[in-house]
Amino acid sequence: MMVCSENKDVFSAVVRSNKKIGQRFYRLGLEFSGDCAEPFGKARPGQFAELDLCGTALPRGEAIPEDLCDMAERNILLRRPFSFCDVTVKGDKTVVDILYDVVGPATLRMTTLSAGDSISIIGPLGNGFAMPSGKETALLVAGGMGAGPLLHLAKVLTADYPNIKVVAFAGAKTATTLPFEKRLDEVSEVLGFPLAEFAGYGIESLVATDDGSAGYKGFVTDCLLEWLGRCGLAAKDMIIYSCGPEKMLAKVAEIAQEKNIDCQISMERMMACGIGICQSCAVECKVAGSNETVYKLCCKDGPVFNSNEIVFSN
Ligand SMILES: Cc1cc2nc3c(=O)[nH]c(=O)nc-3n(C[C@H](O)[C@H](O)[C@H](O)COP(=O)(O)OP(=O)(O)OC[C@H]3O[C@@H](n4cnc5c(N)ncnc54)[C@H](O)[C@@H]3O)c2cc1C
Ligand code: FES
Repeated sequence: MMVCSENKDVFSAVVRSNKKIGQRFYRLGLEFSGDCAEPFGKARPGQFAELDLCGTALPRGEAIPEDLCDMAERNILLRRPFSFCDVTVKGDKTVVDILYDVVGPATLRMTTLSAGDSISIIGPLGNGFAMPSGKETALLVAGGMGAGPLLHLAKVLTADYPNIKVVAFAGAKTATTLPFEKRLDEVSEVLGFPLAEFAGYGIESLVATDDGSAGYKGFVTDCLLEWLGRCGLAAKDMIIYSCGPEKMLAKVAEIAQEKNIDCQISMERMMACGIGICQSCAVECKVAGSNETVYKLCCKDGPVFNSNEIVFSN
């Protein structure tokens, strides 16, 4: 059973911070107070929210990357889905952080949000990651921006399941596209854990880049396979949680199936409504015990699914 929010609604959040942390990566901090604080305070890792960015200003011309110039002016009719990389309850307020990558007109506009701005949000939506009952080790496998919800999961696992060992794997094309603020700090250096964000939760991390500019040279899934080959742990005691590009998720699902490890993955689809009405976010799923398939909705039935359910396209 995935964890589902019963409390979704339209809320207003106030921007607390919006920090550039990499070439095109930002971390947006949103504060919820009053009636909005409780539902977001209970948001589970893997759930998401739909942000209304249609009234948000575009950056100045020179601040728009060349490859996005053509699409920058496009009207934004629909809200955009984002998951949370951190949720913190402070008294009667909840602060939710979103890690985002600037890829088009809505995320370009997001970069101009500044402290004190208000933003309309629907959420928390969807089904998050289910917690690891009976497991000894949780492996978090992130590709690019997939790191966001897995950072949130890392925080919850270490707080609520202190006896479970957590290991994080983070992959990207090259070092500069790893969506992390700090590559190293004192804690991570002393522990030998390369990602400070995970080291802050006491979590060992392994980095993989396609070009070898940081960590393991190759895909994060090959790094995971090598690690599994030498870890000496029983498959039944492990669980994999993964988020990232679909090709990577397909490989993670294949590894999990071959090794017989339980695995949950967070899928992405274009989402027009985010609440199960428009049917734009279909995910083809297997029907247990038959060759038939059904279409489930990423926004409502997911975005987190058991990896053995999904029919991946080639
Ligand atoms: C459940 C969920 C959680 C998400 N969480 C995050 C997050 O934490 N951080 C983050 O940076 N992004 C996240 N995304 C993706 C984010 O919603 C899109 O990047 C954003 O909508 C892009 O809007 P845009 O107008 O800037 O670009 P658009 O012009 O809408 O898109 C730019 C390019 O990205 C592709 N794209 C856009 N949205 C999706 C999608 N949902 N699935 C596959 N391809 C897409 C488009 O095809 C296009 O090529 C999430 C998506 C989903 C479904
Ligand atoms: S986004 Fe509309 S049904 Fe899923």
